This record gives sequence, structure tokens and C-alpha cells, in this order.
Amino acid sequence: MNRIAVIFGTRPEAIKLAPVVRSLIQRATLETEVWVTGQHRQMLDQIMNDFEISPDVDLDVMAPNQTLADLSARCLMGLSHHLSLRKPQLVMVQGDTTTAFIAALTAYYHQIPVAHVEAGLRTSDLLAPWPEEGNRCMIARLANLNFAPTNWSRDNLLREGVAPQTIHVTGNTAVDALFLAMKKLGPVPVEDKRKVLITGHRRESWGEGFASICEAIVLLARKYPEVEFVYPVHLNPVVRKPVFETLQGVQNIKLMEPLNYFEFVSLMRSSHLILTDSGGIQEEAPSLGIPVLVMRDETERPEGIEAGTSVLTGTATARIVSVVSNLLDRPSAYRQLAQCANPYGDGQAANRIAEVCCRFLNGMS
Ligand code: UD1
Ligand code: UDP
Repeated sequence: MNRIAVIFGTRPEAIKLAPVVRSLIQRATLETEVWVTGQHRQMLDQIMNDFEISPDVDLDVMAPNQTLADLSARCLMGLSHHLSLRKPQLVMVQGDTTTAFIAALTAYYHQIPVAHVEAGLRTSDLLAPWPEEGNRCMIARLANLNFAPTNWSRDNLLREGVAPQTIHVTGNTAVDALFLAMKKLGPVPVEDKRKVLITGHRRESWGEGFASICEAIVLLARKYPEVEFVYPVHLNPVVRKPVFETLQGVQNIKLMEPLNYFEFVSLMRSSHLILTDSGGIQEEAPSLGIPVLVMRDETERPEGIEAGTSVLTGTATARIVSVVSNLLDRPSAYRQLAQCANPYGDGQAANRIAEVCCRFLNGMS
């Protein structure tokens, strides 16, 4: 029987691959294995528990304050060992993390075909987001199957000379995961207070960027004492230091540990607006009709901006304060952004991906 190794390492990869694993294991002609690098530990395990996935291989590579080079080396050596032992016919990776790139590279070294989920996202700036833009460009060079979430991402791949027959437009599996969560959560509870939900972790914002984001949050919290600012803080120590130093103790700012996926979706649904630099949240919020302010200078997800549900704010304090204030003060401005749109998918991406993988493997055997 053909064996597929679905390899991931971080929270967003686990969320976006969970629906694909679900769909793959229903195919009788395939043996599906889940391999995790453990690039994230606690944040990965939370999601694995949510979706009741237990890994067949766990490299457990995470170290505190890991560097890109150390992390890459540990993933490469560990994955190479298991690819030699278990010899899958196809390796699946998702997105643009170190795990995704190194897994694709290691599979290539072993001459095993690679399927890339969420292919073709681009800012065309190798330093933003860094190193994700480089990672996804390099995966595109190596992949045999490219699952582009939208027509825009497909066109990016075509422009780079990726063979058209390897590209399949499927929608983003983030929407599949979100639909699963909504089904589980039931109706949205009515809130008495307006909540602004915040997340942030991007490497290119470390230092100055995070300092000015935190300053903006403090100013906003003082300006709007009746609004609650809720912030589940990423476990990266480089992020936690400025966040806790600047925001802890402000009365209407609630800092919390990372939430499991279902708790987080529940919090998103009950929020008035979301302030984030996350990739996945840019895809989820439009489906929920919650405006997203993206604290980055560029995004590889322009579909939300075009659909009118997201706004790029950058990381400068004054701009963040002004955009948030406008939405909190002016119901008409808020209503314009708070529309439900699904530019990223229809919840069926995982089934399409599983189907193409089966066809690909049957054609090979
Ligand atoms: C990584 C990805 C990024 C993705 C993000 C999702 C790379 C280069 N970056 O960034 O693309 O958007 O994950 O969150 O692949 N830590 C813990 N426990 C955890 C997770 C992280 O303690 O469960 C701490 C560790 O000290 C770790 C550090 O955070 O060394 C950084 O983790 P890492 O995966 O290297 O980078 P992220 O910033 O999380
Ligand atoms: N998320 C979560 N718990 C949290 C914060 C986020 O489950 O406390 C989910 C969120 O719904 C989204 C994903 O994690 O699906 C985004 O992860 P992150 O922002 O870390 O990574 P990115 O998407 O930027 O790569």
C-alpha cells in the first residue's frame, strides 16, 4: 500500500493539516502517517489534543530560544533517518515554517515526491515575512504537487514557472478547520463588553516593532477603559518579554497563555475586532465577519484586503491607535469591515487535496 507521511511542527501547520489528515485516513488505498518535528512543543501538543491526532514519529526538537540553523539541522537529521527507515511514497508539508521547508528538502534528498499545502502565497519581499517568504519560495522549487488556496496564489506560482499540471486550486484548509470548530462550538454567546483580541509573533517585528505595538495597546487601553483588550501571548520568550513588561498590570488588558484551538475560535467569534500579525487569523476572521487589522507592512494574503475585511496597519504606534480608534468610534466605518466573506475557501479543501494525492499515488504505483 502507498504510504504518505504528513510532516509538521508548529501550531498553525497542525491546525491546517488536521482536516487533511482526517480526510486522508478515510482513504482505504493509502497508509497515512503523521510525523511531527516538535518545532513547537506545548503549542503543538494543544492542537494535537484538540484534533485527537497522535504522531507516528515525534522528533521532539524544540529548544528554548532555538536558532533557525540549530532547528533546521535537528529537523534535517531526524527526518532523514526516518525517511530512510519508513520510505513513504509521498511527503506532505504545509505553509512556510522551518519544519515545512526542511521536510521538503529532506524528502528531495531522498528523491521522495513532495506535496505542498498552501502553496503560492507571496509578498515578493524575502525579508517580510522572514524567513517564511524564502521558505515557501524554496518549497515551490521542490514540490511535485502544489495546493494553491486561491487563484491569486496559483498565478504567483505560474509566474515563477511552476509547471501548471502540478498546481491545484483547493481553498485554504484553515477554513475547513474553522468550520469543524464552529460545528463543535454551537451558537455565539451575546457579549456585554466590546473585546479587542490581540496576537503577535513575527520575527521581523522583534525589537522595535513589538515595542511600538505594545505602546499602541497601552494607549488604546487607557483611551477606551470600557473596552477589554485580550491577548493570548505566544510562548516565544522574545515576544513575551516586551509584552509582559509593557502590558502587565493595565486594568483592562488581559494577558493569557496560548489557548487551545476551540477556545481561541470561541474568543475570536466573541471579539469586536482583531489586531494581529498572524497568517492563519487573517484567513479565519473574514469567515466570522470580524474585522482584522494586520500589524505588518506587507501581507501574502491580499484577498482579505480586497474583500474589505482586513486592513494593513504596519507596526507604528500612531497608525495602530488611529485605525483602531476610528473603528471603535465610528459604527459606520466598523460595519464596512465587519462583513462575512470567504475569500480563502469553502471548507472542502482537505477533501480535494486528499483526492489529488490518491490520484497521484495511484498513477505512480
Ligand atoms: C514559528 C514559525 C512561524 C510561524 C509560527 C507560528 C519558523 C521560522 N517560524 O515561529 O512561521 O508563524 O511558528 O506560531 O518556522 N516556544 C515554546 N513552546 C512552544 C512554541 C514555542 O516554548 O510551544 C518558544 C521556544 O523558546 C522556541 C521559540 O518559542 O525556541 C521560538 O519558536 P520557533 O518555532 O522557532 O519560532 P516561532 O516564532 O514560534
Ligand atoms: N491560535 C490558537 N490559540 C491561540 C492563538 C492562535 O489556537 O492562542 C490559532 C489561530 O486560530 C490560527 C493559528 O493558531 O489558526 C495561528 O497561529 P500563529 O499566529 O501562531 O501562526 P501563523 O498563522 O502566523 O503562522
